[in-house]
Amino acid sequence: MATGKKILVSVAWPYANGDLHVGHLAGAYLPADIFARYHRLAGNDVLMVSGSDAHGTPVTLRADQEGVTPTEIFERYHRRFLEVQRDIGISYSLFTHTDTATHHHVSQDMFLTLRKNGYVYKETQKQFYSETLGRFLPDRYVEGVCPHCGYEEARGDQCDNCGKILDALELGNPRCKVDGSIPVIRETEHFFLDLAKLQGAVLAYLEDGKEDWRPGVLKFSQNYVKGGLRGRPITRDINWGIPVPVEGYDDKRLYVWFEAVIGYLSASIEIAKLRGNPGLWKDWWYDTDAETYYFIGKDNTVFHTVMWPAELIGVGRLYEDDESKRLNLPTDVPANEFMNLAGTQFSKSRGHLITIADLLSRYDADALRFYVTVVMPETSDSDFLWDDFVQRNNGVLVGVWGNLSHRVLSFTYKHFKAVPEPGELSDADTELLDKVRGGFDVVGAQLTARKFRAGMNEALSLAREVNRFLEVKAPWTQMKTDRAAAGTSLYVALQAINALKVLFAPFLPFSSEILHKALGYETSIFGEQVIETVKDARGTHEVLRYDDAAASGTWAFEPLPAGRPLQKPKPIFKKLDDSVVEEELARLTT
Ligand code: MF3
Ligand code: ZN
Repeated sequence: MATGKKILVSVAWPYANGDLHVGHLAGAYLPADIFARYHRLAGNDVLMVSGSDAHGTPVTLRADQEGVTPTEIFERYHRRFLEVQRDIGISYSLFTHTDTATHHHVSQDMFLTLRKNGYVYKETQKQFYSETLGRFLPDRYVEGVCPHCGYEEARGDQCDNCGKILDALELGNPRCKVDGSIPVIRETEHFFLDLAKLQGAVLAYLEDGKEDWRPGVLKFSQNYVKGGLRGRPITRDINWGIPVPVEGYDDKRLYVWFEAVIGYLSASIEIAKLRGNPGLWKDWWYDTDAETYYFIGKDNTVFHTVMWPAELIGVGRLYEDDESKRLNLPTDVPANEFMNLAGTQFSKSRGHLITIADLLSRYDADALRFYVTVVMPETSDSDFLWDDFVQRNNGVLVGVWGNLSHRVLSFTYKHFKAVPEPGELSDADTELLDKVRGGFDVVGAQLTARKFRAGMNEALSLAREVNRFLEVKAPWTQMKTDRAAAGTSLYVALQAINALKVLFAPFLPFSSEILHKALGYETSIFGEQVIETVKDARGTHEVLRYDDAAASGTWAFEPLPAGRPLQKPKPIFKKLDDSVVEEELARLTT
């Protein structure tokens, strides 16, 4: 059981209306997973939560298009999310969804507490209404021209082009998404979150510390609040979603963005129950020294840096009697930019994407994790380019780390079958080992700071260092004349590889696990990911869980004892043929 810091790793909840693609991976899931795995190795107590975003117009629109129920859509994609995220190794403590009994309760209780605390009011507003369909057209049911950037297909809730959050009424030339008809305006009554009242507190939060936030995220969020917050409706005229816990609101539901962010809290509560310790979640949500991180794509920024803190501040305390306690606000929201495919943003709704499942059918999880990490859009948009993928896979992943580990392990296995007994270590030997030992601080510092590309580069430069050491020592030549000297060089190189295996593990968990076994360990570095069926008052649902019972890895230099038997190694990475580039480009255009 970890005894270190409590770290909550919150990951954006994907809409269950289409398959997950590389944009999701690069934007949120992979950085979150690297961060969570690193902190687990470092001995911290990580709770990593997310789930399928089951509600809202993204899901109902898809159901309308296919002529099926929203339930069918969300269950279909939820199931696929579980499998694909297990297969690419996103190690959620719990990946659940927003249609669970727990999430319904917690969302309704948050709403009622906000209302009791005076942050929710009722108001009549104007809304688009379709006379042909005979119903209101919330959010994405209306598209039109963005008032900010002029984009022609802006959606009623947010513009995909400039990222601004919209009110559908601001759209130019509005059209109904279902039948293309021109909507009319009608009045309707809704509950509003009083953001104007919360503005001061949210700004104070955003101006307190935050030195280690990504500057772009911080400035954008502060400016958004300084621009003035107005009340926003948190209910909708729709019949798919969480019921509004107030009489007379039967044909309205809580707004998807109001309740989806509450998922971070409700999933923490759900996992506590599943672990048979219902109060456990409070360690992450009330302890003032707990740290909470939110991994999201940049289009979700305002919802996590402004709206969610506003909800948390407005509620203050939930399911907790100690009046001095307050729900923790995000420690950081390291929002990533977009990863583009050949210059166009990945987008589920526009069909321009490479799904993770499709990639996994042709490439190994770690090869994909590697490439997405080295081009991760941390501070600006980046591109997923097939020639770059092949080049870096072959030149760096296979060429540097793969070659190093395979060359040393297979040569040592062939001649020694075990970790060789070293002679006296030279200065060059100890110097190399000191550098590698130092890698735990260097890589750890980058990962702690949410700098994933930099962390990977530090680990790679250490691998290159070990390669240079081997070029100088050339144990393959030493072997011919001086078996003992070769044994010492290999001993040192194996120590370095054993450490690098851990330094790479947060990024490349599958290959590190294989190396771990080849180095003669019978344990596992990480725990296991399992899909489970759980039961609650709304029925049964499937979840993905990381079970850390078998995890034994630690973020520290661990000497490999001389004489330890080695396993026959297999190459951990595959070289890709150049023809892959042509094939993949052809796939994109067909
Ligand atoms: N479902 C949203 C999207 O895919 C993200 C929601 S993140 C949440 O853009 F945490 F708020 F749910
Ligand atoms: Zn726009």
